[in-house]
Amino acid sequence: MGTAIKILAATCAIFLAGLNAAKAQSEELKLVTPPLAILRDQIRPPAATLPVPTGYTRAQVMHGDRVFHGEAANGQCSNCHGIDGKGTPNGNDLTVGMFIWSDGSVREIKRTIKHNMAVVPGMDGDLNAEDVEAVAAYVWAISHGAVVE
Ligand code: HEC
Repeated sequence: MGTAIKILAATCAIFLAGLNAAKAQSEELKLVTPPLAILRDQIRPPAATLPVPTGYTRAQVMHGDRVFHGEAANGQCSNCHGIDGKGTPNGNDLTVGMFIWSDGSVREIKRTIKHNMAVVPGMDGDLNAEDVEAVAAYVWAISHGAVVE
């Protein structure tokens, strides 16, 4: 009888030690949360001088800039794509002028935002049609760089 209790106690101790180890490990993993460190100065593109896509207005690019940086429509774009749009570990660089999911036209950038990214706020109702339009124009603008005059 005494032996059985000792074995039971030992089993419990091993089980509890295992639980503690698992807990410690999950706490350790929790430390790695976004945004991960980005080792560059993130300079916000100058929306006032970026090129404006045909059929859109400066006001739309300016509004898109605010959406992108979370100042309108609860946009979260810059959290993943960076303040400078040059990407983070959570979202790719949108400024290089080469897109994975589209030909880079405003129309297709808009389609990507609306339909191809379940994670973007465009899907969660914070962005209305005008916001999506504006932020698509803004992404086009940053992918074409600053106007050199
Ligand atoms: C939670 C992180 C996250 C947020 C927030 C987010 N994105 Fe993205 N975005 C991504 C990731 C990751 C990809 C790449 C997806 C892939 O390649 O499968 C991506 C891809 C894109 C693409 C396509 C790029 C290409 O190469 O074709 C566009 C355009 C884009 N995002 C715009 C936006 C805009 C505009 C917003 C804000 C309205 C936004 N994203 C918010 C993570 C995010």
